[in-house]
Amino acid sequence: MPTSWYNIQADLQEPLSPPLDPTTLKPISPELLERIFAKELIKQEVSTERYVKIPEEVIDAYLRLPRPTPLYRAGRLEKYLKTPAEIYFKCENFSPTGSHKTNTAIAQAYYNKEQGTKRLVTETGAGQWGTALALACTLFDLKCRIYMVRASYQQKPGRRIIAQTYGAEMFPSPSDQTNFGRKLLKENPNNPGALGIAISEAIEDAVTHEDTRYSLGSVLNHVLMHQTIVGLEAKKQFELIDIYPDVVCGCIGGGSNYAGFGYPFMMDKLKGKTNTEFVACESKAVPHTTKGIYTYDYGDTGEMTPLLKMLTIGHTYACPPIHAGGLRYHGMAPSISYLISKGHMQSVAYNQTEIFEAARTLAQTEGLIIAPETAHSLKYVVDEALKCKKKGEKKVIAMNYSGHGLLDLTAYEQFLAGKLVDYEPEKIDVPTFTH
Ligand SMILES: Cc1ncc(COP(=O)(O)O)c(C=O)c1O
Repeated sequence: MPTSWYNIQADLQEPLSPPLDPTTLKPISPELLERIFAKELIKQEVSTERYVKIPEEVIDAYLRLPRPTPLYRAGRLEKYLKTPAEIYFKCENFSPTGSHKTNTAIAQAYYNKEQGTKRLVTETGAGQWGTALALACTLFDLKCRIYMVRASYQQKPGRRIIAQTYGAEMFPSPSDQTNFGRKLLKENPNNPGALGIAISEAIEDAVTHEDTRYSLGSVLNHVLMHQTIVGLEAKKQFELIDIYPDVVCGCIGGGSNYAGFGYPFMMDKLKGKTNTEFVACESKAVPHTTKGIYTYDYGDTGEMTPLLKMLTIGHTYACPPIHAGGLRYHGMAPSISYLISKGHMQSVAYNQTEIFEAARTLAQTEGLIIAPETAHSLKYVVDEALKCKKKGEKKVIAMNYSGHGLLDLTAYEQFLAGKLVDYEPEKIDVPTFTH
């Protein structure tokens, strides 16, 4: 088990652009951030220390998830594809809530508990992040409140029920609990909600309750850093079998599972020690990095969050209702945006029908039901393995298996019935901000 997280900010050629205050559009003051996040997390957000020690209590909670998670060779899939490529999955699907999100939820709950926070609030889309934070809060004896996108709250009760069982308070967003939610409900009582709206509600809740802090499940530097436990473990596991991957891939919603898996390998690339390819996979319905613009944008719809310099398709973009709820976010982690813009990594986008085709192939070869989000990188893996077959190339392809799909069965049902619809925006408008 690694005992420190890896912070990529130590190895970037230049510092990342600072977050901006949403009211002044000037670099944000630490005091304002402290009303939103735990102090230690703000320190980690701007730290340029290469390694940050993982607290004992967090290591203990990681061991019980359990960690380290297995590195799995998808030999049956290779055989089915008749490819000379080797395919490896880092299995984050084994956590109690089914995805990688617990790795940062535990760390954030720990630091908040240490500083005396009584209650954490957050938003969730389909519920992966919400269940992870609800679990972490119950482990560290914190109250937890979650604003869940209304459409998912109603249509996908599975993860809501898990979070409620852990003891979290759940509200469909927009809700009657915040000024922003009440305003939206007045305009449209049937508003289906969106992640950007739920974030605005959670932030409003945090800044209006002294004992409360906000917790975010992706995008920010500290969140990505907590996830590097995944890649640091994988690197050691590959070392044990004397292999270094030729391709490191994963899906991107806000960027945390990809960065967590990829950055410990990216460290070597930034130091000129490897030519490994880094490939991030997204949805054609939410093409934040393949069609987005690299600029400052808000993290939420209500324009309450600090602005981040990132690849974005605009904070007012209405994300189509694809089943990969975790990929429905307009922006992208600043460090991933930076690395793509500098050409250190590339990104590709897929439609939901083709990713479910790949998911079915996986189910029928390895017996694994993959999360729709993760299936975006699986589609890339299958295509790359077939290219290797054509060229007779023996590449090692490593993918972060970020979650299982056992609570996404209605999506599989629609796919099997031939009822899935693909979406692609015709036009993207991104407002630009300067400072
Ligand atoms: C299984 C799974 N994979 C990937 C993601 C995308 O998020 P991120 O890019 O932060 O890893 C999510 C988000 O909820 C998820 O649930």
